[in-house]
Amino acid sequence: MSGILVIGGYGAVGAQVSTTLDGWFPGQVIAAGRNPDGARLPDTVRRARLDLADIGGLERLLDLDPITAVVLCVEPADATVAETCLSRGIHLVDVGASDHLLRQVEDLTDRATVSGATGVLSVGLAPGLTNLLARRVHDRVGGAQRIDITVLLGAGERHGADAVAWTVARLAQPAGARPRRYVMPGYGRRIAYPLDFSDQHSLRRTLGVPRVATRMCLDSAFSTTLLAGLRRLAVFRVDRRPALRHLITAALSRVHIGGDGFAVRVDAVNGDRHAALALTGNGQSRATALVAAHVTRTVLAGALPTGVHHIDQLPALAGIPEQLAAHGILRTSCRADRRRSTS
Ligand SMILES: NC(=O)c1ccc[n+]([C@@H]2O[C@H](COP(=O)([O-])OP(=O)(O)OC[C@H]3O[C@@H](n4cnc5c(N)ncnc54)[C@H](OP(=O)(O)O)[C@@H]3O)[C@@H](O)[C@H]2O)c1
Repeated sequence: MSGILVIGGYGAVGAQVSTTLDGWFPGQVIAAGRNPDGARLPDTVRRARLDLADIGGLERLLDLDPITAVVLCVEPADATVAETCLSRGIHLVDVGASDHLLRQVEDLTDRATVSGATGVLSVGLAPGLTNLLARRVHDRVGGAQRIDITVLLGAGERHGADAVAWTVARLAQPAGARPRRYVMPGYGRRIAYPLDFSDQHSLRRTLGVPRVATRMCLDSAFSTTLLAGLRRLAVFRVDRRPALRHLITAALSRVHIGGDGFAVRVDAVNGDRHAALALTGNGQSRATALVAAHVTRTVLAGALPTGVHHIDQLPALAGIPEQLAAHGILRTSCRADRRRSTS
């Protein structure tokens, strides 16, 4: 019997990964984290205590259990966890959204090929579904010169603590690209601000598109404006105001103004050709988890090549938006192809 180790397996994303995979592979899922005792999971999901800071602990766990795939639902400090798994021939599915880490895992592709393992990166909503839409609009315009990704998140969703901390850390960085207004399906015209999601970096490598930018807004226009204003004031800069940033992270984790809906829209431009695709749904953590579960199932079916790949590089995963739509996860899918570049 094979085992699936879900690290961070009872967080906002991980709990839904563990539960979904347990439904498909009963009794084969182990949910791991530092304090798994209170984890609310089906009884058939085993719990394991694991701190990624202790790589020896991971090695001991992998020595004890015949693990076939690891789903990484927490961001490690570096690529050591990925290296440990891929070197042992264990498949890796990584929901991480930080480009500097994903690059390090990309570099392990030869090691994965030698051991017969597959690593899939850019798994989730953003990165993840955004990458898949980006590939489609890129193809639709005959090779994009520019791609703009817009992510709208529900300020009312109970996002996981790590996801909130990740976002606040990105808000501490300079904005880079300019904000832009886009019509988001179900939400009307919204202004979105640049944020350092990994998709905008990895897509330049995988699609060869020279200009890619990812912007984010919240469903609450008030909260979006507030965050943008605080960012302009450099309130999130940890080096200057660690206590204040900690307070804001805690507040964002607790205050829920808005709904739990999300929308992603990806626009591609090539000369006068423009294409846009958008998806909406409820629960970004759930959507991320279901993408991760579908990817894991496909990996375990032996349908993916060995080596390390981003999701948009794997044709076998191109249909995930439709698979999620069939399960009612993605409520709307719309598209517009035009000759003129408009937003
Ligand atoms: N690709 C996407 O679209 C997407 C979307 C959402 C989130 N994410 C990413 O997914 C990750 C998880 O997000 P989340 O919302 O699920 O966060 P979360 O609810 O805070 O869950 C984090 C989980 O990781 C565990 N954990 C934390 N530190 C650990 C460590 N050192 N060793 C082992 N386990 C540890 C936590 O349990 P303990 O505290 O008990 O250890 C918890 O189970 C984040 O990195 C986030 O950026 C990606």
